[in-house]
Amino acid sequence: MCGIVGYVGNKQALSVVVEGLRRLEYRGYDSAGVAVVNNKKLDVRKKAGKLTNLETLLGNDPLPDSTIAIGHTRWATHGIPNDANAHPHTDVSNEIAVIHNGIIENFSELRAELQKAGVKLSSDTDTEVVAHLLNFEYPKSNNDLAESMRRVVRKLRGAFTLVAVHAQQPDVVVGARRNSPLVVGRGNGENFLASDVAAFISHTKNAIELGQDQVVELRHDKVTITDFEGKPAVTKEFVVDWDAKAAEKGGFDLFMLKEIFEQPKAVAETLVGRLSENGKLVLEEMTLSIGEIANIEKIVFVACGTAFHSGMIGKYAMERWSRIPCEVELASEFRYRDPILNQRTLVVAISQSGETMDTLMAIRHAKSQGARVLAICNTQGATIPRESDAVLYTRGGPEIAVASTKAFLTQVVAVELLSLYFAELRLDKPTTEIKQVMNELANISHQIDVVLDTTDAVKELAKKYMNAQSVLFIGRHVGFPVALEGALKLKELAYMHAEGFAAGELKHGPIALIEDGIPVVVIVPSVRLEKELHEKVVSNIQEVRARGARTILIVEEGDDSIIEFADHIIRIPQTSSLLQPLVATVPLQVFSCALATLKGHDVDQPRNLAKSVTVE
Ligand code: F6R
Repeated sequence: MCGIVGYVGNKQALSVVVEGLRRLEYRGYDSAGVAVVNNKKLDVRKKAGKLTNLETLLGNDPLPDSTIAIGHTRWATHGIPNDANAHPHTDVSNEIAVIHNGIIENFSELRAELQKAGVKLSSDTDTEVVAHLLNFEYPKSNNDLAESMRRVVRKLRGAFTLVAVHAQQPDVVVGARRNSPLVVGRGNGENFLASDVAAFISHTKNAIELGQDQVVELRHDKVTITDFEGKPAVTKEFVVDWDAKAAEKGGFDLFMLKEIFEQPKAVAETLVGRLSENGKLVLEEMTLSIGEIANIEKIVFVACGTAFHSGMIGKYAMERWSRIPCEVELASEFRYRDPILNQRTLVVAISQSGETMDTLMAIRHAKSQGARVLAICNTQGATIPRESDAVLYTRGGPEIAVASTKAFLTQVVAVELLSLYFAELRLDKPTTEIKQVMNELANISHQIDVVLDTTDAVKELAKKYMNAQSVLFIGRHVGFPVALEGALKLKELAYMHAEGFAAGELKHGPIALIEDGIPVVVIVPSVRLEKELHEKVVSNIQEVRARGARTILIVEEGDDSIIEFADHIIRIPQTSSLLQPLVATVPLQVFSCALATLKGHDVDQPRNLAKSVTVE
């Protein structure tokens, strides 16, 4: 939520910052704004709506040249998305500009105190109070902006990344971080601050993870990081392994389409080097010891949205392979129901961004109860992996479209790998059995490619259902999370009513939704491998058809028994049951993307959403 960029160096700061904002716009697009310092004068431009509105404003009302700038794209929390509430916010002297990601929980108290002191606030945001507080603290801190920031953040409660500049300090950008992401990019004679490395990878790949409760002072040739008290902080440097091209559209009209088509590669990358020559699984970065793994009595997958659906698949895979009892829990519900956790519980947090606040809070709660925490994450340097005991990285590369696609598939691969690994260590599973699944996984990229060949047919199908009032998705076993994922994609992109159900649950209520002509998408299990389940799903298909539904069946190659029950068939390659989500989800992603495009929606930036949800 909210994208932040700061720059100080030797280039035209404004273009560096606007370019960074473009790469971060997926984090929020309610408004955008920038501030520059030139000749000891602060200048701000900001505008409600997408970044292009700001660019138009900058065209009509240009800013002076500057080598220092900050910029922000907003996902609104406090205050509607209008020009006044857009960041940066300034203090009464108009010398300090502040941008913010997160929520300052005690802002009402602080606002009241400021108003009592005679300060007139000009926005409804929680951020503006920080600009005024910095103004109060600046003289008391010997005109040291970093020290002023330390004094201010000690007064704040909540989650925040704050970045500020001062007109009298033309070579200083100051940032502070608590529970919200902020990464430093180290260049040559220039330095960067951003919510995500994507903002600066075209300039530098050398980065520093800012830890919890740290303040950074950025100059063109120096980066100084302290804790909130001013003591030097321990930090971790890393080299970003994405290249700048990965964060561009690469010939596609949409990031989402590009990312759908990147799935074979993303899956293949996530599998690279996972099998040793002697057939043993290798999960290098997964640092739980054999003793710790042997000690696990229960696994709880926690995640949100699409990542939650991969957690559901994780439960099926983990119980099937390792026989460890599993639960799957929405991270936003987890800590509020006082879950039973102890040292023998492993909490597996799944998160593309590694910054989702609900998931972060869930793992903190788990740790406080003595549980071990393992993160499955796509983003190096993010908070969730950093705060976990172990990590398994998916290697999907940057996912820019707000709707998750390649991250989901790589998460499914990760939970499968983890399940097999635990099975190998705990049950002494024969390597031949594991090798067989790994061989199948090795071929899955090719199979996803085959599914992608159905893209045009799926797009045609989308045209037929453009005016549907509602779309239902049903499946059994791992087909159920796939159904949920299909429905989620349709809601968030096409803004259509869509529901995913466990097919067996239909008769317990949802079947009442079936009316003439309603499209029902069915994920059909393998007739070769799951005969009993297949029969049950065929019965469910008949039940909905008898009531007028139009059926769109996702069916494996060679299953002809199903043809008579289908209004439309989308073929997927044959896989083993637990791997079917890796191919069955793909046409559903294409379907939603196509419907949203037909309806003229902004597919990469759907309304009301942001990619990285850093508030609870
Ligand atoms: C849906 C989607 C979201 C995310 C969810 C968790 O397409 O992208 O539902 O899956 O917000 O995000 P991460 O994985 O970053 O924790």
